[in-house]
Amino acid sequence: MCGIVGYIGQEQAAPILLEGLSRLEYRGYDSAGVAVLDGQTGRLSVRKASGRLAVLAGQLHGGADLPGSAGVGHTRWATHGAPSDENSHPQVSRSGRIAVVHNGIIENYAGLKAFLEDKGVPFTSETDTEVVAQLIEYFYDGDLLAAVGRVLRRIQGAYALGIVCADCPGQIVAVRKDSPLILGYGEGCAFLASDVTAILRHTRQVSYLEDGEVAVLTRQGIRCYDRLMQPVEKPVVQVDWDVDAAEKGGYEHFMFKEIMEQPQALRRCLSPRLQGGEITLENFALSGQYIREMEKIYIVACGSSYHVGMVGKYQLERLTRRPVEVALASEFRYMQPIVDRRTLVIVISQSGETLDTLAALREARRLGAFVLSIVNVVGSSIARESDQVLYTWAGPEIAVATTKAYSTQLALLSLLAVYFAGELGTVPQAEYRAALDAFAQLPDEMEKVLERKDGIQYFASRCFNHSSVFFMGRNVDYALGLEGSLKLKEISYIHSEAYAAGELKHGTISLIEDGTLVVALATYDRLFPKVMSNVVEVKSRGAGVLALTTERRREEMARTADAVMTIPDVHDLLLPCLGVVPLQLFAYYVALQRGCDIDKPRNLAKSVTVE
Ligand code: M6R
Repeated sequence: MCGIVGYIGQEQAAPILLEGLSRLEYRGYDSAGVAVLDGQTGRLSVRKASGRLAVLAGQLHGGADLPGSAGVGHTRWATHGAPSDENSHPQVSRSGRIAVVHNGIIENYAGLKAFLEDKGVPFTSETDTEVVAQLIEYFYDGDLLAAVGRVLRRIQGAYALGIVCADCPGQIVAVRKDSPLILGYGEGCAFLASDVTAILRHTRQVSYLEDGEVAVLTRQGIRCYDRLMQPVEKPVVQVDWDVDAAEKGGYEHFMFKEIMEQPQALRRCLSPRLQGGEITLENFALSGQYIREMEKIYIVACGSSYHVGMVGKYQLERLTRRPVEVALASEFRYMQPIVDRRTLVIVISQSGETLDTLAALREARRLGAFVLSIVNVVGSSIARESDQVLYTWAGPEIAVATTKAYSTQLALLSLLAVYFAGELGTVPQAEYRAALDAFAQLPDEMEKVLERKDGIQYFASRCFNHSSVFFMGRNVDYALGLEGSLKLKEISYIHSEAYAAGELKHGTISLIEDGTLVVALATYDRLFPKVMSNVVEVKSRGAGVLALTTERRREEMARTADAVMTIPDVHDLLLPCLGVVPLQLFAYYVALQRGCDIDKPRNLAKSVTVE
């Protein structure tokens, strides 16, 4: 949420900042802005505009109009104050000599604002960020770092900050607490970014700022300090993400590209873990003894990652016979969860930066649990703070609607369920082997599903005008429906809900009338007849039914449903992972027909770093 980029070097900063922001726009796209320091004139120029980055880039002719070789940029997801030019970042101090970009929320901003207003400081925006800029100026006596240090002792909340001052054209100050910030190292230059994709074109040498740390970027290098302002050495790591992976590569949308990349992503995720007929989990710290003594598993996540957890619950309980609870991360931390050292907490997050999930992780660790995370972004906060991380290796995911991260999370969690079952001896050897063979086939099976995309586009062309859609399924198909419904609503803006199919008649069926669209999910063979009965029920009340089932059940389903999508007949552990693909494609094509902004749906952001 909100993207920050910073550059100090020999080249003109504005074009580099705008290019970096274009890669961060998925984090927020309500407005954009840059502040550039010109060492020759001592001028600090701030330009910002509400709306997409293209508006600002157009006004600045790609940055050519703004001289100066140091600066910070920002793309905003509005929290305090509506999207407007005034509320855009950078926010500047009263004198116009200090500019700040911010990701996060300053929770005690109102009190600080009142304090400054009492001292006669005028405010021009509704943002919490302006308070930071004004407060730095209030404390500033010629030493920017000291002023920032005094501000940090007063502000509360979550923040990543990039700060420039006209008096110090040779430095950028960066601060982090609970919001991600990455430092990049180049020859005679240094970078700052919320996400590594913003600076990948310039450097692969990065370090991760920790909570409470402050960095001073100069052309000669980067100095870092801990919360007591003592110098700290930061380990520099090499990022191996492919630059092209973060480009559209000829596709119209990132979402479509990422859907199509799923077989490849699954190969990267699964192949190294399926060697020699065994499951190999890298540097796995959970001993067989811990697994045998584990009394409960909690899965904690948000959004689509939570839906992965819902599938995981069914699979883990069935295979391990251990109780599994799934909690929304935003609820977990406030519900006094019953967690102790015999509880394994599995945290799932694509970005590894979702604030609610990070806070839940910290709470779980505080309560003594072992935290295992499933994360896509290497080096992210959740990955670094977990006792054990398993990376999905899906590659950069840019579209706000998650696809390849979802399917790799799911594959990895299912694999983990089989691994635990193997350790616990809760499944017969033959079943264990059959599962491993099936996982090895998953990427190829997914390719077959993707080949059917034209058929799904056809169904989408017949359904895109609906104003409301219901998804229903049982067991893992219910969990799958939750994801299908979220995908559809987030990018097409069609109202949609998902129900356990048996639950519909306890209220929701009253909404079914002539022409209501119901997407019936019936891939899990054991419950196929039950879902069929529910299909008949909604059909009898006038619903149009688009069904998803396996090839072997196509004919049977086609006798009742209006249209049928299928996936190959695979091991039941893999059904949700394949089943989600037609639902992703369906949502994509419906949104395309409706002319929606697919990669940047309204009001959303890729990385949710506020509560
Ligand atoms: O990065 P995370 O996996 O922690 O993100 C969680 C949710 O914000 C995310 O899955 C969201 O629901 C997606 N936009 C869904 O497509």
